[in-house]
Amino acid sequence: MIRAGVMGWPVEHSRSPALHGFWLKHYGIAGDYVKLPVPPDGLRAALRALPEKGFAGCNLTLPHKEAALAIIDHIDASARRIGAVNTIVVRADQSLEGRNTDAFGFFENLRAGAPGWRADRGAAAVLGAGGAARAVLAALIDAGVPEIRLLNRHRARAESLAAALGGNIRVLDWEVRERALAGAALLVNTTSLGMRGAPPLDLALDALDPAAVVNDIVYVPLETPLLAAARRRGNSIVDGLGMLLHQARPAFAAWFGAMPEVTPDLRRTIEATLQP
Ligand SMILES: NC(=O)c1ccc[n+]([C@@H]2O[C@H](COP(=O)([O-])OP(=O)(O)OC[C@H]3O[C@@H](n4cnc5c(N)ncnc54)[C@H](OP(=O)(O)O)[C@@H]3O)[C@@H](O)[C@H]2O)c1
Repeated sequence: MIRAGVMGWPVEHSRSPALHGFWLKHYGIAGDYVKLPVPPDGLRAALRALPEKGFAGCNLTLPHKEAALAIIDHIDASARRIGAVNTIVVRADQSLEGRNTDAFGFFENLRAGAPGWRADRGAAAVLGAGGAARAVLAALIDAGVPEIRLLNRHRARAESLAAALGGNIRVLDWEVRERALAGAALLVNTTSLGMRGAPPLDLALDALDPAAVVNDIVYVPLETPLLAAARRRGNSIVDGLGMLLHQARPAFAAWFGAMPEVTPDLRRTIEATLQP
């Protein structure tokens, strides 16, 4: 029986057990994926206990993603670049390796949801410079997007992200976000605006090319006000649920030995957990 889980505080809301549980059953793998509620001051001990408790690894969620960097034995290139760990893999020698699969998840979801989109089609406008933005930016840089326009309410946060990641990032003021859409082939919202309980994103889309793709990484609700407005004017839209589903694939593969697929059945199962 292979064991894995998700470590967070709180962890009750996590959809990861439903996600990995679906795949374990679907692929007929003898495994178990559990919630691991761990407060911040218990993180070191909980991580160090993974090998002796027979865990192949775990996911990390709030507030542990950055703190784990100082505890684990190996940090792979993705986690180092993004500055956060969302996946722990217990190596054969019992040491702990940290990875980050969010950039993979973002990009695979974009490819699946907008198969006609190509990185070289034009600029990308990215709204937000929080934790999730780092993975989005890393993926877009690696894909070869020719210009990334980065806009965040607090400009300094966007500037430090641009400095840390390199690439073709142009930081612009939040106030010019509507003009920044002109000529963009892709718009990505990485702010929490539009999420259930948060105000909607205040953004008129008039300047956006109707052929541009709009991706909101917020997935509660599944169709955010931004996606609804983009759909009404004929843009291709990509919702955020797929990013959550795809980021889990490499972790499942590392622990359970099979690269799982994101299928309509899986989407329906996880969508059902998003209802209020
Ligand atoms: N689909 C997925 O798999 C996935 C993965 C990760 C996150 N997410 C979603 O992405 C969203 C952001 O997550 P995060 O971890 O990056 O959060 P975060 O680190 O707290 O960043 C929040 C971002 O939202 C901006 N923001 C918040 N309130 C704002 C306002 N009133 N006006 C303008 N900007 C505002 C912040 O701007 P300032 O810097 O100026 O405060 C910052 O850029 C959340 O809704 C989360 O659920 C989805």
